[in-house]
Amino acid sequence: MTINTLILGAGAAGLMCAAHAGPGTLIIDHAKAPGEKIRISGGGRCNFTNLYCGPENFHGQNPHFHKSALARYTQWDFIELMDRHAIAWHEKTLGQLFCDGKATQIVELLTGLTARAGADLRLETSLADLSHDGTDFVATLTSANRREVVRARNLVLATGGKSIPKMGATGLAYDIAQKFGHTVIDPRPALVPFTFSDGRFTPLAGVALPVRAETSGHSFDEAMLFTHRGLSGPVILQISSFWQEQQQITLNLAPGADAFDRLRQLRAENGRQQIATALGALLPSRLAQAVAEETALKGNLADQSDTVLRGLADRLHSWTLTPSGTEGWRTAEVTAGGVSTDAVSSKTMMSEHTPGLYIIGEALDVTGWLGGFNFQWAWSSAMAAAADI
Ligand code: FDA
Repeated sequence: MTINTLILGAGAAGLMCAAHAGPGTLIIDHAKAPGEKIRISGGGRCNFTNLYCGPENFHGQNPHFHKSALARYTQWDFIELMDRHAIAWHEKTLGQLFCDGKATQIVELLTGLTARAGADLRLETSLADLSHDGTDFVATLTSANRREVVRARNLVLATGGKSIPKMGATGLAYDIAQKFGHTVIDPRPALVPFTFSDGRFTPLAGVALPVRAETSGHSFDEAMLFTHRGLSGPVILQISSFWQEQQQITLNLAPGADAFDRLRQLRAENGRQQIATALGALLPSRLAQAVAEETALKGNLADQSDTVLRGLADRLHSWTLTPSGTEGWRTAEVTAGGVSTDAVSSKTMMSEHTPGLYIIGEALDVTGWLGGFNFQWAWSSAMAAAADI
């Protein structure tokens, strides 16, 4: 069979590309269903974009690569697509847009558009072999009862990153890109909880509070959650993308307050209260108790000098920790790193080594913050490729 375009991976980017790439398109996926990450994302409602999406919400080795595609297919374009197909949505917080109904509405929208565009979607289909004969890509596709050689002028790598192997994630895009001369920036789990091997936070599991978290010069203000294994919550997922092994993180547990002033004020008002009670004015009570126990200060608030209160306040505002690691690919929402953007056109997503080879979505070394940015990158990069095909 000879076709125009073969797309590998029927996830967010692959489906968006198939829906717009024109006639003669075949899209394959080894999973049973298309768009599985869309389906489970955002607690089943898919945080499909962000009102405030801009280039500053993405990182990768080339800090400019993503700009062109994001500017040409914006969050407003995807919102317009949702509106045109009467899929209701709402802003939850910080510009994050979610479906009012189910995330599967977006999967249905994209598979519907793919079918209407005349593209053929084949599930439970794998790539057994791939070469390029100087004109076309020659791909051997296998499924339970079929083995077929497909010749395609264009090949789109849309198999995503390595996060959540249980959901079918593989490094296929990296292998193929390397085969065609591209380099791969070491893929690592991102938007992922931190673990602490000493189990120090187990007693605090379930405690949540707003914090400012910082690592390697990147800081975020959002909620943090103590877990049995360590630290999670949006703020931790955000900084995890910038964290390298053995690096420290710094937490400001009372970002909106001047803890020293507050503790002095409490001492003046009621010096007889316990340290844990006073800390309870700034922190959730279980955490206040744990911090008080760890500092092991003797006596009540009135017994503490300004120097001691200053030390306590500094501890709340600047608590440094070194995570043992992260929960890894098992729970990471995305992959940082991936196919280097060095030899990929930022306008079309086409390889500069092999004409007709396109790489889109999470497979590339472009990673968005938590908050709908990774889906926007999938939509924008897919549209850039589709426009060129
Ligand atoms: P995606 O992973 O969507 O698709 C890749 C496809 O390729 C899959 O269908 C897979 O089966 C297929 N494939 C892989 N290897 C293959 C092989 N060897 N052969 C054939 N097929 C193969 N982002 C966001 O913006 N808002 C959100 O709310 C969330 N929420 C969220 C929750 C969870 C739990 C996860 C894991 C991730 C998110 N994300 C997110 C991230 C978002 O899901 C992700 O960035 C996009 O799905 C990436 O789109 P891609 O199309 O690049 O990959």
